[in-house]
Amino acid sequence: MAGRIPQTFIDDLLDRVDIVDVIDRRVKLKKTGKNYSARCPFHEEKTPSFSVNPDKQFFYCFGCGAGGNALGFLMDYENIDFPQAVENLAGGLGLEVPREQTRGREGNAPKESPNKALYDLMERCASYYRDALRQHPAREKAVAYLKNRGLTGVIARDFGLGVAPPGWDNLLKHLGDDDATVKQAIEGGVVVRNDKGRVYDRFRDRIVFPIRDRRGRVIAFGGRVLGDEKPKYLNSPETPIFHKGRELYGLFEARRANRKLERIIVVEGYMDVIALAQAGITYAVATLGTATSSEHLERIFRVVPEVVFCFDGDDAGRKAAERALHNALPAMADGRQARFLFLREGEDPDSLVRKDGPQAFLDLTTAAQPLEEFLFQSQATGLALDTMEGRASLSKRALPLIRQLPEGVFRELMYQALAERTGLELASLMKLEVPPPAPPADEPPPADYEAWDPGAASPNDEPQWLEGGSEEEPTPRQRLPLNHPLSAYATLVQEAIALLLHKPSIAALADPSALKDQDSTESTLLREILELLRKRPESSTGMLLGHWHGTAEGELLAQLAGQERLIPADGIEAQFADIVRRLSSLPLRQRILEEINALKSRPYEQLSADDKARLPELLKALRDLDTRSGPAQS
Ligand code: UTP
Ligand code: MN
Repeated sequence: MAGRIPQTFIDDLLDRVDIVDVIDRRVKLKKTGKNYSARCPFHEEKTPSFSVNPDKQFFYCFGCGAGGNALGFLMDYENIDFPQAVENLAGGLGLEVPREQTRGREGNAPKESPNKALYDLMERCASYYRDALRQHPAREKAVAYLKNRGLTGVIARDFGLGVAPPGWDNLLKHLGDDDATVKQAIEGGVVVRNDKGRVYDRFRDRIVFPIRDRRGRVIAFGGRVLGDEKPKYLNSPETPIFHKGRELYGLFEARRANRKLERIIVVEGYMDVIALAQAGITYAVATLGTATSSEHLERIFRVVPEVVFCFDGDDAGRKAAERALHNALPAMADGRQARFLFLREGEDPDSLVRKDGPQAFLDLTTAAQPLEEFLFQSQATGLALDTMEGRASLSKRALPLIRQLPEGVFRELMYQALAERTGLELASLMKLEVPPPAPPADEPPPADYEAWDPGAASPNDEPQWLEGGSEEEPTPRQRLPLNHPLSAYATLVQEAIALLLHKPSIAALADPSALKDQDSTESTLLREILELLRKRPESSTGMLLGHWHGTAEGELLAQLAGQERLIPADGIEAQFADIVRRLSSLPLRQRILEEINALKSRPYEQLSADDKARLPELLKALRDLDTRSGPAQS
């Protein structure tokens, strides 16, 4: 097995290639100012929102959020994995890719996943099941079953279908039953240990569907019985590499089959995805026996601007659709579209496409209900809209949903649509948006008590960013109020990361150990970036992205790197130093705020003398903290 590619080689490689060349060879770029732009190769669009920054050596699409360095681009564009992308780039420069002997990790390169062994094991399982479909005596029954469901060998190959033969330990025997392997197979969910300590194969006498992640690595399996036994489907449990709430069955296959995906159809079952692909509709995906989550949606919208949800026409289908609606709302940024298709009761996409053909199914998806229509229709069920009361109830139900839409034209249109449907003035609807004011206290509390309202953010809580770099009024960005338990913490950390990505040299201004008390994913990431930049201060944005490529952190980094709006026009250094100072004082600030809030939540007259004395102290401590660590006051 090939060893790990040394990080220094990867950094060096990224240093020598120019991302502009790499991309321009595949997608014609046009120079626009200091950047280059093009129509995005990862989603359908009419005007270019794909931008390549030569200084930072990274690309970003404002339309679909795709972003990364030259290696990331190659991986996504050519649908290849990381080592292949490295080989590809190195080959262009006539370089040979060195390999380390696989042993302890160097420490700063999370891309060689700690779960590598688990991925390898899953691949061995997948290949065992696939081979069994070709040559095991159990193949006959399995092949007959698949044929009977209208599938060809080609489609079975494309989806890597296999069969788990009958028997308790076929796979176990194949993998080897030494303790280490068994332990790993249990971790991977393909082998089960029962209460009595007996171990056996999870999938037996079933058609096996490998579930692949977006890089095509097998991370789990689904298994279907060949007859009517129960349960019909078995799925891998959650494992270190498989999280049902994030993965979509068929997404890898869909991206592989279509250079440019325009939309994705979300269906309920494995067999629906495959039957649609067999009929030439190669862009269906399925959730894995769970509701469509916001994470699923984010994933989909990163690839395409349009999604069609496909549900059964029964009650369960309606309920599933409502859940999907709720989860879709926060993802519905302008330019994205979601539609809802309800099939006739008793039909699913598989049966429909086989009975009526692909065109009939496509016609249905084209005529599917847009999200806005489904939202109003589903919220209006049971209401008499010809009465005032009914219309008032509709606005009560619909408002919280509309509120979940991200700010933008679409949300405004939805408010307008609600106003039209309810006959209420837009202005009075918007008034419903403002939370009712708190009842006034009887005894007038001291001036400080009134002046400082934990519910409203003080100017200090809101660092303000210049959008364009002009003299205009800075526009405060939307975020959680700082007195929220989770506070602006994560946002501040993200801002620090965005600044670092923009200008890595400012890392010298911060001491990673100042952030040691904070252990959210984001602050760990910030700390790691600072540490990395201590070691390699000359790293470019592209190199930083390279270090985390293919991980969840990498996705966050790519997103942040694309957010120019987080970057102040000037004074980046001061801004960064200030954020770091604020971050290190935040835990203390948080404790103070909590104590103030606890006191403020009680009526003033019920506070003890001590409490009343404590309050000014706390407020002073907070002010001190702000003058020490807040932005300069005017
Ligand atoms: P369906 O019962 O609608 O399956 O479940 P299907 O895809 O139409 O099955 P076929 O056509 O009879 O083969 C939809 C999805 O729900 C999950 C699976 O992910 C399945 O694809 N499911 C269903 C389970 O996890 N377990 C079950 O027992 C049944
Ligand atoms: Mn079915």
